[in-house]
Amino acid sequence: MVSPTLPSSYDTIENYTSDLCSFLDTPLVRQITGGIHVNDALIQNGWQALPQEWTEWWSAWPDYRLAQQDLVDGIDEEAEPASRLVQQQPRLAASRPESLTTWLSTLKSLALPRTQRPGPAVALPKVLTAHMGPKKMSEVSSGAAYIHDVCQRRGIRRIVDMGSGQGYLSISLAYLFRGLQCLAIDGSESQVAGSRAVAISLGIPEHRLEQIVHWIDGAPSLASRIQDWADGESCMLVGLHACGSLSEHMIRYFATVPCIEALAVVGCCYNHVVPRSPSCPAGFPISAALRERNVVLSATALMAGCQAPNNWKRPGRGCDQEGESVFGKRRLHRAILEKLLHDKGIEVSRQDGKRPVWGIRKQDTASFAKFARRSMDCLKIAHDRVPAADLMAYEERYKDCEGQIAILWTLSVLCCKVVESLIALDRYWFLKEQGAKGVDIVPIFDFKISPRNLMMVAEKAGPGLP
Ligand SMILES: C[S@@+](CC[C@H](N)C(=O)[O-])C[C@H]1O[C@@H](n2cnc3c(N)ncnc32)[C@H](O)[C@@H]1O
Repeated sequence: MVSPTLPSSYDTIENYTSDLCSFLDTPLVRQITGGIHVNDALIQNGWQALPQEWTEWWSAWPDYRLAQQDLVDGIDEEAEPASRLVQQQPRLAASRPESLTTWLSTLKSLALPRTQRPGPAVALPKVLTAHMGPKKMSEVSSGAAYIHDVCQRRGIRRIVDMGSGQGYLSISLAYLFRGLQCLAIDGSESQVAGSRAVAISLGIPEHRLEQIVHWIDGAPSLASRIQDWADGESCMLVGLHACGSLSEHMIRYFATVPCIEALAVVGCCYNHVVPRSPSCPAGFPISAALRERNVVLSATALMAGCQAPNNWKRPGRGCDQEGESVFGKRRLHRAILEKLLHDKGIEVSRQDGKRPVWGIRKQDTASFAKFARRSMDCLKIAHDRVPAADLMAYEERYKDCEGQIAILWTLSVLCCKVVESLIALDRYWFLKEQGAKGVDIVPIFDFKISPRNLMMVAEKAGPGLP
């Protein structure tokens, strides 16, 4: 019987789910994933709310980016913790507080393993790879091979590709495997137009690859359309990086549309996952298992789930001025301006309860004054409400906080793998609750190339189940 590869310290998925939910519900994780948003860190004293021995230790580093790197290494599946930093700061690296080491180990031990599961790959001819980057090539090569194997085993000849985008996957499947027929669906007209042009240039006839523009929101009308297209045959539903709730809609179509017998979907962009609410009762979490535990992921946590800090460029040896982080400055400036506006009682109006977009460009981070004026223009706040002298005073007061803000932000990002694991578990449990067979979470791609590499797979009862 198939079952997902769990972190090494677990032998049952029930215990794993339980521990993961408990960890995400601890006060520290709640704080760093939105309890105190990093933009509000100076207003709500986010730094002071962290364990003191941790903040003291981070403050001792000559460059915060090395401390940041130490944290990121702490969750790396492959890195020897601290080994890279020992060469630069042996004494500091060796004196990391034990409680921080334990917390990082827990974080790491609760993440679903990402090491690519050995599996087939198809060699893609040049005509197909002409429009793909190396990342897409490796994804399509493994994804297409996996899908083809399932189709062969189950005698499926029809594929529905949801969120097909430029059609890399569906075009490759239709081109490589002449016995397959594909229906590619995407909500974006321009994506489908691009995909159609490539299919025509490759001479793929429409009866082997139909491409339609359709927004996918779980509506039954699309289910009927798929049933009609299937014409009595079985289908496999596939999606490569199906953003946000699109993956959840696909999982529901798999469970409810009779002709869909197999599913393979890789998620991404978890910030577009719609949480469950009175206006969206079908939102995250979708499984009874997680709903019973009252699991909630904040917008910050969902955003963290999209990050891949282990693939970040590492800071240079000397961490000199030239290597100064634009992101670090931008985050610091944002936190200072939030504090200034808060202290002056200037409210920033929210759109649909969300923080507005501040419209900051790279060149606006040159100085805090520039950043502030540009942001105020975007937020429609008159300049005379915040005199230049105040801008200078706040910049001076908080100029040394860049490291604090960067570490706070890094801490939230460190939760990326546990957040993604929880989302994968939710989908796993939903599929199990619907009676699906062969439910698995397959690390299908090389995570160094494609960090979003967890593919949810499931099948309906039938011959040849693995
Ligand atoms: C990250 S891209 C992946 C594209 C393609 N599968 C690939 O791997 O190259 C996601 C695609 O899904 C489409 N999409 C996202 N949400 C959708 C929805 N709810 N309905 C239809 N299309 C959607 C977007 O337009 C985009 O083309």
